[in-house]
Amino acid sequence: MAINKQEHAQWSSSFGFVLAAVGSAVGLGNIWKFPYMVGESGGSAFVIAYLFCLALIGFPILVAEWLIGRRGQKNPINTYSDVAASEGKSRSWSIVGATGILGGFLILSFYSVIGGWALNYITKVGSGSFAGQDSDSVAATFDAMLASAGTLTIWHTVFMVITAVIVGVGVTKGIENAAKILMPLLGVILFVIVGYNVMNGGFGEAVNYLFAPDLSKLNGDVMLAALGHAFFTLSIGMGIMVAYGSYLGRDVNLLSTARTVVILDTVIALAAGLAIFPIIFSNGLDPASGPGLIFVSLPIAFGSMGAGAIIGTLFFLLITFAAVTSSISLLEPTVELLEERTPMSRTVSTIVASIAVWLLGIAALLSFNLWSDFTIMGNGIFDALDKVTSKFMLPLTGLAAIIFVGWQMDQRSIQQELGLSNFTWQLWQIIAKFVAPIAVLIVFVTSLMN
Ligand code: PHE
Repeated sequence: MAINKQEHAQWSSSFGFVLAAVGSAVGLGNIWKFPYMVGESGGSAFVIAYLFCLALIGFPILVAEWLIGRRGQKNPINTYSDVAASEGKSRSWSIVGATGILGGFLILSFYSVIGGWALNYITKVGSGSFAGQDSDSVAATFDAMLASAGTLTIWHTVFMVITAVIVGVGVTKGIENAAKILMPLLGVILFVIVGYNVMNGGFGEAVNYLFAPDLSKLNGDVMLAALGHAFFTLSIGMGIMVAYGSYLGRDVNLLSTARTVVILDTVIALAAGLAIFPIIFSNGLDPASGPGLIFVSLPIAFGSMGAGAIIGTLFFLLITFAAVTSSISLLEPTVELLEERTPMSRTVSTIVASIAVWLLGIAALLSFNLWSDFTIMGNGIFDALDKVTSKFMLPLTGLAAIIFVGWQMDQRSIQQELGLSNFTWQLWQIIAKFVAPIAVLIVFVTSLMN
């Protein structure tokens, strides 16, 4: 969430900060991406690897990024540069801030396309077009949307305009207030769908699929996918949390705040899994059907449950809202950079950045139809953007953050800042210096050898 940067205000309370961080973290990653990645990687192996990555890598890197941001008090590039200089290290660390901003820019291009799908589904579900439909006709509706470059462009444009207006006009405070009500409501709706599933079959199978340890499916690819998704879902490795940290008051406890964010984010993702997989299994759908997974499964339930049109509409409205609270955090760093480094005003910076993202998004959505034959190293444009960011840029940028905190900064001051005493401090050091960086490297190496 953007903050009035002239004053460089601090978050009014740690609650406001948690809300903004959760707003950025909880989004399409939890509800759209997590389930289909689980499905593509064969279920529980992915879930287990993902939970490990969150706890041992994601959590400490989230803390590290906030810590760096709070020291630097500027945008990610200047923050890395200044903090490095004050520690007597090279200012070239600013590259880490730059790759982070670039990552956010690239992610937003395809994120907005999916935000557009969610917007489109608000109208589809709302108009009752899924009532009584079976899985084949629900899938046909989805395929028809994908095949239409025009439809995808319209909704991608609407989503981008909403994001740009909020960032440009700077009404993020209002969004933050709305989030207080709407995010919990999203949680409630997810649990309503889970409840429906408990009554309607497939639930036990889904629980097994998600949680019964089946490590035979664990390989380098699954681990890299889980690692990348841990970064994606927490919004780390992108400079966004570094930027947020710069607004964080001294009195905010980084560790407990990070714990809250990670837990809430994980609960929402797992709830999404329990909302979706029972429908997949009870309707004989393929869990590995890719990015369309929630769009070909949930409407079946909305078409058959009581008040399904209302619940379904509300559901897609709320995930669109969750997507917007993430997309504004993806756009903000690029806008801020343009505003600071060029003569352009905030409004012009927002327009320029948004048009650039929008154009890249068009290229991404065309890979579902007109340009489906065009590939980059075997991937369509959409997949290429997703893979380059999640599996490469985010983990490397995050790795740099934890190495910076673990090895480049003065450790005594960090111990004070985190408020840790002997045993917990030693634990933190082991994780920050060794476990997290080595785990990231191991995942990289194993996936290269695959
Ligand atoms: N974490 C967001 C989600 O899960 C996506 C996101 C990624 C937002 C990176 C900001 C930065 O949907």
